[in-house]
Amino acid sequence: MSGPGALFPDGSYRFHLTLRRGEPREFFGAQDLSGRLLQERAKWLSENPARYAALLPGNEPLLAEAAELGEKAWGLPRVASVLELGAAWEPDVLLLSPDPTGAFRLRGGALCFPTGWALDEKIGHPLDFIHGVVPGLNAALASPIQQFLSRLKPGAVFHRDNWGIVATDELNLHPSRGLPVPALPVVLARLWLRVEYQALLALPRTRGILFGIRIALQRLDEFVQDSTAVVGLRQALATMPPEMASYKKLAGIRVKLIEFLEEKSGF
Ligand code: HEM
Repeated sequence: MSGPGALFPDGSYRFHLTLRRGEPREFFGAQDLSGRLLQERAKWLSENPARYAALLPGNEPLLAEAAELGEKAWGLPRVASVLELGAAWEPDVLLLSPDPTGAFRLRGGALCFPTGWALDEKIGHPLDFIHGVVPGLNAALASPIQQFLSRLKPGAVFHRDNWGIVATDELNLHPSRGLPVPALPVVLARLWLRVEYQALLALPRTRGILFGIRIALQRLDEFVQDSTAVVGLRQALATMPPEMASYKKLAGIRVKLIEFLEEKSGF
């Protein structure tokens, strides 16, 4: 995983398709020695299995191919369903495959730690529908994303990340939980930088895509100790289009948070 420099590239806020090549086993293999991640995953999956895991009929080969990679290449337990996979793998996992037009559709997955979205609202849909709620994303990136995914070669994994500011350190931000969003007054000890580290991998047999997500949280009072990160976050917030700030649920605190970061960095 990379530092804040990669999260906040120089210049104004913009969408980018920056993908870094990585090692699949490092991302998908077990990392959490404490076992807490898997414990929490099991809790959500048993509380509401259909909310957190699903596979559309006919996509069993996609699941089987991902499960086989997990078992044979990354040392993960053998799993036979999305529920089992969700409880045995640390990252969230989404499975996509092309429809007859070539558009990648979400076919299933195990998503215990969503950043504000619900699997059942997106499953079965193509990526441009899924991204439709993100203001300006399709206009800027729908065709580069489609091109990238359709040319992805098996073997390597490619990484990218999304960041946000949230008002809770809960991993599971499923919309049904109604958790608080950032609001005034700005108290840095009550806000977190939430980063989604993502991995994309081609599945050669089914021509599918395995999309993995790991969440990292850092409380903002700790985050602001890093002066490069403060400058990067300030720049991103100050140059983000208003529709994007609203989408990211930052409209309520943006101005105050920028003021705070400017004081902090002597801007
Ligand atoms: C390959 C390149 C991809 C790029 C560049 C990309 C980019 C983005 C960006 C910029 C956002 C907005 C996040 C934010 O700033 O807060 C987003 C949201 C999202 N993306 Fe992607 N994405 C990619 C692939 C995928 C894939 C493969 C999926 C699979 C399902 C996916 C599902 C989503 C979902 C569910 C959201 C949240 C939408 C919502 O709030 O309802 N993305 N993506």
